[in-house]
This record gives sequence, C-alpha cells and structure tokens, in this order.
Amino acid sequence: MAKSRILKLVSAYDNYRNSTLNLIPSENVLSHDVLKALASGMASRYSGRPESYGGAKIFQELWTNVEELAIEIFHCGYATVLPVSGHIAGMIAIDSLCKNGTTLATIAAHYGGYMGYNSGHIPEVMRMNVSYLPFDVKSWNIDLPRALEQLEKDKPSLVILGATVFLFPHPVKEIAKIVHSYGGKLIYDGSHVLGLIAGGCFQDPLREGADVLLGSTHKTLFGPQGGLILTNDKDIAMKIEQHSLYTFVDNFHLNRVAALGVALEEVKIHRRFYAKKVVQNSKALATALFKEGIPVEGKKNGFTRSHQIFLNYGKRGTEIREILETNGIISDSRIRLGTNEVTRKGMATRDMSEIAHLISQTLSEPNSMKVRRQVRMLISRYQKIRYTLNS
Ligand SMILES: Cc1ncc(COP(=O)(O)O)c(C=O)c1O
Repeated sequence: MAKSRILKLVSAYDNYRNSTLNLIPSENVLSHDVLKALASGMASRYSGRPESYGGAKIFQELWTNVEELAIEIFHCGYATVLPVSGHIAGMIAIDSLCKNGTTLATIAAHYGGYMGYNSGHIPEVMRMNVSYLPFDVKSWNIDLPRALEQLEKDKPSLVILGATVFLFPHPVKEIAKIVHSYGGKLIYDGSHVLGLIAGGCFQDPLREGADVLLGSTHKTLFGPQGGLILTNDKDIAMKIEQHSLYTFVDNFHLNRVAALGVALEEVKIHRRFYAKKVVQNSKALATALFKEGIPVEGKKNGFTRSHQIFLNYGKRGTEIREILETNGIISDSRIRLGTNEVTRKGMATRDMSEIAHLISQTLSEPNSMKVRRQVRMLISRYQKIRYTLNS
C-alpha cells in the first residue's frame, strides 16, 4: 500500500475514472507505450537544445523525428511541437501573425467558439480588438453569406476558425479567399478535430486555405496534453519558431514531446480507420439519443460530422451533468458528448444505442442505481485500449 496520501488519491482518481463511461470530447485515453514515454527520465531534463545544454544529442534526433511524423501525417511543410498546450499554440500563432493594431474575427463562445479567443482573454493580453462572425444556430455553423459581407466590410487582419463545440466543418475555403484578398491571415484551431483531420474524415484546413493549423494533441489525437502548430508557409514557420522560445515556452517538456511522438506513430498506423469509426459512432449516438427524445442540436445537417454531439439543455447543463455522473456517465456541463474515447476502447455503433438508452433512462429516473450497474457492465466489456502499436 502506498504511503503517500497523494499517490492514494492518484489511484482513487484513476480507479474512479476507469469505472465510469467517459463521454467528454476533450479527453482520450493514453496507450501504455505513450504513458511509458511520458513517465521517462526525460520528464526532469532540460537537455533538449544543444546550444544551451549538454546531453542533448539523442533528444535532438527524437525531436526531429516527432516533427517529421507530424509533417507526414498532416501533409504539410512545417510542424512545431514546442507549445505545451493548445491554448499556448494559439497564443504563439497569433503573436507570430500579429502586427500592431491587429483586429481579430472569430466565433463567439456562446456559439461554441473557444473562450480563449473571445474578448477578455488572449485578445486583451495581445491588445487586439475582437469581432464575432455571424452564426446560424439551426445549421450550427458560421452564417457564410453574412460572414463574408462582414469580413468584406471590416477586413479584420486575423480570422480564427475552429471551435470548442464543433459539429460540422467550417467554410474555410470561402473565408480564406476573402481574407487573403485584403492581405489578412487565417488560423484554424483544430484542437478538437486534429485526429479526424489526420484520418481524412473532417476537413483539410491547410489545403482549403488556412495559413496555420494548430491545436491540442489529446482530444481526437492519441497524445498526452500538449500543442501542435502546422503550416505550409516558410515565413510563418520561421516567425512561429522565433516567437515560441523564451516568449511562450522555455523548457518545453521533453517527455511530452517523446510521448507525442509515440502517439503519432499510433496515429500513423490507425488514423483512417479510427477517425471513420469515431464519426460513425457519434452519428449513431446522436441519432439514437434523438429517437429517445433527447434535445440533440444540429438536426438540419444530420446532428454531427465530428466526434461531438451537442445536447441543448440550456441553463440546465450542470444539473444534467451531475445526474449523468451519479449514474457513472461523465460529460461536461455544456452538454457536449464525445465518442473519441469510447471508440478507442473498441465500442461500435451497436454500443451507441445502448449508451443512448442508458442516458435516456438516467435522465428519466435520476436515482435509479439500475443504470449505474448497466454502465459498469458495459464498460467492463471494453477495458482494453485499441489502436496501439501492437493492435
Ligand atoms: C478550440 C479550442 N482551442 C484551444 C483549447 C485549449 O486547449 P488546451 O486545453 O490544450 O490548452 C480548447 C480547449 O479545450 C479548445 O476547445
């Protein structure tokens, strides 16, 4: 028995999360190989950059390999794994593309845009003015005709697409065309969908005209928590490198880079099959939930084309999240559900009907322990992590 109180809590946390059904779309499970790299001695080293520290030779080779893997998987010219999170990746990219007086247009947080790009957060630190792109709730996407009109009129120097509640591909091509026509830049934040992009199952932002594709490495990708920035533009890549070190990162966590490398090796093998399964599962789950009478957003366009399903419970989000958790189903408070983790554990479309039924039962009988037992039985059938180097 561990003597450390903290280690006991670590075990308690892991046991709890392993005994519940995780539908948080921002999370995924790590393979044993990725965890091994994450727990390696690199976790306490600085010696990644030979210009500053000795002992860096092997890490240099590893780092180059990881960035080359990212370039291969995302078919792009340049990649950096320096950002220690998706948020920091966003800050680095914005700072690299910003000039004095930069204006930013993005999606408002209440329509699923990332809070970090909304007024009061990154734009405030970077002294940028923010405007919000018109949004069509029925199709849960940017209202393209009105957005083009607004962009033509306001000419914001930077547009950021991509979102936190992300159901359907964004109109990158059309927006890139207009933004580039007046010399602006376009960032696509794929934090939620990088794994689907890697698998060719969502959209291809760099080919559609985005100047930069960035995001977290741990939602639909198989990596540990961290960030990634990709581009085809050499000047932008150089600026990103110059604006990263000593501004947004110094030590960039060598163990994280190594673990990301292993995860990208897994992604390289399984990306197409995994991404396809994730989207099939989320469509199946959304359809089954809708049939159960649950308020699923995005009906007009078939509910979802990503790993996410969005249940519109308005102000009842926290209450619904708590009811679900009482019965062993973990979600966030918005309520977004994600199929990325359950798919990695091997669940298929037939399991989605079961999950939908369990959610529906839970919400109609919040105190029934019957559902908790059924959830336990369901997850006991899926204990193994799939899509690894050996499976
Ligand atoms: C669209 C988007 N960008 C950035 C982030 C921040 O990512 P991270 O948690 O890796 O910093 C999030 C968080 O979930 C997000 O949804």
